[in-house]
Amino acid sequence: MSDLQPVRGTRDFYPEDMRFRNWLFGHFREVARLFGFSEYDAPILENEELYTRKQGEEIVAQLYAFEDKGGRKVTLRPEMTPSLARMVLANTALPMPLKWFSIPQCWRYERAMRGRKREHYQWNMDIWGVDGVEAEVELLSAIVTLFKRIGLDSADVGIKINSRKVLQQVLANAGVTDEQFTPVCIIVDKMDKLPQDVIEKELKEIGLNPEIIKTINDTLAIRSLEKLSEILGENSAAVNEISKMWDLAEEYGINDWLVFDASIVRGLAYYTGIVFEAFDRSGELRAICGGGRYDTLLSTFGGQDKPACGFGFGDVVIAELLADKGIMPTLESGIDDVIFAFNSNLRSAAMNVASILRGKGRSVDLVLEDRKMKWGFKHANRAGAKRVVLLTPEEWSMGKIRVRNMTTGEEKDLDVNEL
Ligand code: HAM
Repeated sequence: MSDLQPVRGTRDFYPEDMRFRNWLFGHFREVARLFGFSEYDAPILENEELYTRKQGEEIVAQLYAFEDKGGRKVTLRPEMTPSLARMVLANTALPMPLKWFSIPQCWRYERAMRGRKREHYQWNMDIWGVDGVEAEVELLSAIVTLFKRIGLDSADVGIKINSRKVLQQVLANAGVTDEQFTPVCIIVDKMDKLPQDVIEKELKEIGLNPEIIKTINDTLAIRSLEKLSEILGENSAAVNEISKMWDLAEEYGINDWLVFDASIVRGLAYYTGIVFEAFDRSGELRAICGGGRYDTLLSTFGGQDKPACGFGFGDVVIAELLADKGIMPTLESGIDDVIFAFNSNLRSAAMNVASILRGKGRSVDLVLEDRKMKWGFKHANRAGAKRVVLLTPEEWSMGKIRVRNMTTGEEKDLDVNEL
């Protein structure tokens, strides 16, 4: 076999990588618990049809899709939201509102680059059955809680907020149809990645004239709520919804983190209202997380709509950011004791001592082969073990075990029941 690397854009997780992953997921789970969310999961393999929306989204072209042996068109999931919608639709007895979270692995055939891989894990929190912006603010507060727990503050990261209703209102006034609106969002979402003339060419191709394109550009450039309300008028639903959210965010004490930015529209077709993306303030990295309201997803599956909003928060960009800031956590192996027999005659006794300590809930690494004592201490050091428990012929003959505290270097001879 010539290529021993993992498939391009995918990762192996060596134990130290797993320690980081478990640490991060632990924070995801803990924040979800603090907010009263329940965990769910779904298969990584889904029916392709769940994603083949026709509005030109990048995600549809990036599917890892294939026919299974029974001729069914299936795909690795690129995101969790359609699976969640499928679950909600299939179970009409679910009590609303529903607050669920999940940490799925998602697959997208992307151009692999910094912060973008072909698989990533994505912490999702979604609220179904609440139609007010109270739900969005609760989600934003959860995101901020996570940032704080892992050592980031509002000078490091911000969350850009907008509502799709902003552009929708402007375009409706300019005579753009509802069918054209979602494709417009998908095109302008690519603004960061593509040159302006390519974006404008795509907008022309869906039938927009230069005047409307200028209106779109002007609207996307708005960066303050005051300016927005000047342009859309005080009675605008979009303005009211964003302002209300801002007021509520104050109650949570998270305003420092929020930035109004009309250029945020998101690249997925299903969003209908508030949309948001977290970003690093130094502007080096891609979006840390993204989400918004999607009240009409169920009807695209032939069901009855239910209000919903949520976000997806990947494990890749956040790791880059923590590394850039030099605040990656130092994570130990979690091993309490390395047990070591001086010679093979004492190995069975060492096994017995290991069982006793494991019975007490300690994490025990038993050295299973003949090794020199020096190696045993070096090994314990490398593993970050708290103690070395050493069985030597002399002490053992008196029923004693030598224990070295690896932090202080202190050694004591103890009875088994004193361990
Ligand atoms: P998304 O913006 O496509 O939204 O992805 C959410 C987050 O997942 C991104 O901000 C990023 O952190 C991470 N992510 C996405 N693609 C990649 C990739 N190729 N490599 C590394 N990380 C990636 C959604 O997926 C929506 N379903 C989120 C949502 C949930 N909306 C409502 N509920």
